[in-house]
Amino acid sequence: MFFSSKNVNSRNNIHVKLMNSLRFLLVFLLFSPALVFSQANYDESKVPGFKLPDPLISFRQRKIRNVKQWEKTRRPELLDFFTKNMYGEIPGKLEISSFNILEQGDDAFNGKAKRRQVELTFEKGKHKIHFNILMYLPKGVEKAPLFLGYNFSGNHSVASDPHILISTAWVEDNPSLGIINNQFTEQSRGAKANRWAIEKMLDAGFGLATIYYGEVDPDKEDYSDGIQPFFYVDDQKKPADNEWGSVAVWAWGLSRAMDYLEQDQDVDAQKVIVFGHSRLGKTALWAGVNDQRFAGVISNDSGCGGAALSKREFGETIKLINTSFPHWFCKNFKNYSGNEKALPVDQHEVLAMIAPRPLYVASAEDDQWADPGGEFLSVVYASPVYKLYGVQGITQTEMPAVNQPVMGPVAYHIRSGKHDVTEFDWEQYIRWAKQYIQ
Ligand code: GCU
Repeated sequence: MFFSSKNVNSRNNIHVKLMNSLRFLLVFLLFSPALVFSQANYDESKVPGFKLPDPLISFRQRKIRNVKQWEKTRRPELLDFFTKNMYGEIPGKLEISSFNILEQGDDAFNGKAKRRQVELTFEKGKHKIHFNILMYLPKGVEKAPLFLGYNFSGNHSVASDPHILISTAWVEDNPSLGIINNQFTEQSRGAKANRWAIEKMLDAGFGLATIYYGEVDPDKEDYSDGIQPFFYVDDQKKPADNEWGSVAVWAWGLSRAMDYLEQDQDVDAQKVIVFGHSRLGKTALWAGVNDQRFAGVISNDSGCGGAALSKREFGETIKLINTSFPHWFCKNFKNYSGNEKALPVDQHEVLAMIAPRPLYVASAEDDQWADPGGEFLSVVYASPVYKLYGVQGITQTEMPAVNQPVMGPVAYHIRSGKHDVTEFDWEQYIRWAKQYIQ
């Protein structure tokens, strides 16, 4: 048979296309959620032997004996390490340019609460961004303590309150649902109300402030949107290897929300508890570490890169998280993908940097991907730092029974059920916040 060069080229083209498709299929299969999930280790007997770094021994092997040494030497060196090698540095300073009360009312939740929707605006050069804080404040409390946390599905998803404004960022992120006033959009109003026990918070005298996380940085591997480009120098296209990933960006946004809350007459800014679920739990922890104005921190099912110990390599690992979500942490963190042994720190030291402020870590029994065992041990191994401050941590090393919270200024529970935020979780957080924050 005879082939002209054209035939050969087209055969080659077909071959190249076929190979590309196969390659695509292979990559897809290798990183498809189901496969990634099943690649993980869920067997306690296969957890590798590891030595956990002692939060009270400095990198130069000095024993840390008191709060002063912790605050002067050890905490700063840990903070520096986690900043440059994991979450990423914030490349500059940016303050709220203006804020604007878009809407308020005092008839929410059958007259129990005031509702306030505040738009924060940030401007720098040609860049401009807004994000909206939705607040519910209990009536009859002069300055309310509150929970501050991001939501995944738009402010309008947290309650079926027709007055909640739908943000354009949420509309853009959800093109199939996103035409305002279209039926689907309205269906998503209140769609995640089950994750926010707002009435329970109000009844206990707490308020809620929440923000759609995609307004601060859309959750995709795209470094041209959100707040990151505000700091690019010259023709920079993405953060440098040591600069902030999305978790640090979102944490930054919580601090800016705190800047606003400090100016709101109806809020007790000394009693703001930062809360987050899952990737937003990782965010809440990092926000709590960096911003000591937060009076307490709640991590709900935060898992890898949050409360769970990395060195256990149980469930999601550094390699898996860096592969599926390359934009969450800084590029330097990829040095530890499949290389947990080289890490001179672990996540218990993130928790330790929250001391002496109250901390609540929670897991779910069926959420093995987030390694409940590693989340619990992390709290245990952070506890010596709390002890240094004379605050009771958690000393028992065996995992508590399911649905039996260990309460104290440092609290932990594992509840039955899946990766989620439930009524049970909020009942415990509110009980704990009443005792240790309010
Ligand atoms: C994925 C990811 C987790 C993350 C979770 C979430 O499961 O692997 O690290 O916590 O998403 O944010 O829902």
